[in-house]
Amino acid sequence: MYGADVEQVAIELNEDPQKLADFEARIARGEKIEPGDWMPAEYRRQLIRMISQHAHSEVVGMLPEGAWITRAPNLRRKLILLAKVQDEAGHGQYLYHAAETLGATREEMLDALLTGKAKYSSIFNYPTLNWTDIGTIGWLVDGAAILNQTMLARCSYGPYSRAMVRICMEENFHKKQGQEMVIRYSQGSARQRQMIQDAITRWWWPTLMMFGPHDADSPNSGVLIRWGIKTRTNDELRQDFINQLVPDLQACGIQLPDPDLRYDEQSGNWQIGEIDWDEFWRVIKGDGPMNAERMAARRKAHDDGLWVREALSAYAEKHSPLN
Ligand SMILES: [Fe+2]
Ligand SMILES: [Fe+2]
Repeated sequence: MYGADVEQVAIELNEDPQKLADFEARIARGEKIEPGDWMPAEYRRQLIRMISQHAHSEVVGMLPEGAWITRAPNLRRKLILLAKVQDEAGHGQYLYHAAETLGATREEMLDALLTGKAKYSSIFNYPTLNWTDIGTIGWLVDGAAILNQTMLARCSYGPYSRAMVRICMEENFHKKQGQEMVIRYSQGSARQRQMIQDAITRWWWPTLMMFGPHDADSPNSGVLIRWGIKTRTNDELRQDFINQLVPDLQACGIQLPDPDLRYDEQSGNWQIGEIDWDEFWRVIKGDGPMNAERMAARRKAHDDGLWVREALSAYAEKHSPLN
């Protein structure tokens, strides 16, 4: 659909050609689309899918790190980790609100997550096995998220792009605290150096998978780029990430688990070996190392929170001006 002419797209999507042309012209002028504006049903559907998936990722993403709050080695590290995990809850909150502006309800989004219909980022289905995983997640996972989210801060849908601006500022703190930890442990005792090497070895490939399939295997990319939801492709973002991280991690004396990794003088890019896409699809489809545990934890949190939701509704009812 990317690149097809507007008449053809209007027929394919059963939309009014004039309205669609005006909508696309607004995007081409760099205008933001706002909640009450006309938009194609497919634009709304893609945004609800993407934003709710993103919200779920923030919330599920609290689990692997939250597990280490009580085990942080000192008060400073504990405070930083608490603040970071709390930020992720806030990100989930902004994003659910952004999806609600498109007509999705909180209940249906949560229901889709808890019944396994909705996806969230594959990365959170991996376990956090040692304390330096926390620094590794900050530098690698939050770093990868920033590249994606900086792009989304320029997306054509106003509420999503504005949520991203604020989220990116907080993500920068997440990345920096992780980078500081990785650098420090990579210069630490033999045991610390071994722990950080182990963490990077485990998280490197799953982080590269976070950017999603190659562009040719990414079914939604065309329409997302046509309508300015995404302005860069999965492979472009992944390459940027690799080019940033490889020299920095190597400078820390860390070995990357890729025998085919090499610098290509001609393109100026670091080239990697083949990503294990079977693993990626397995994890996405629910069969990763921690999928069952993550979903069980979310369901339990949802059930445990029932009394809070009931109390809030009762309070709102009692204080409603209509009563
Ligand atoms: Fe976040
Ligand atoms: Fe983050």
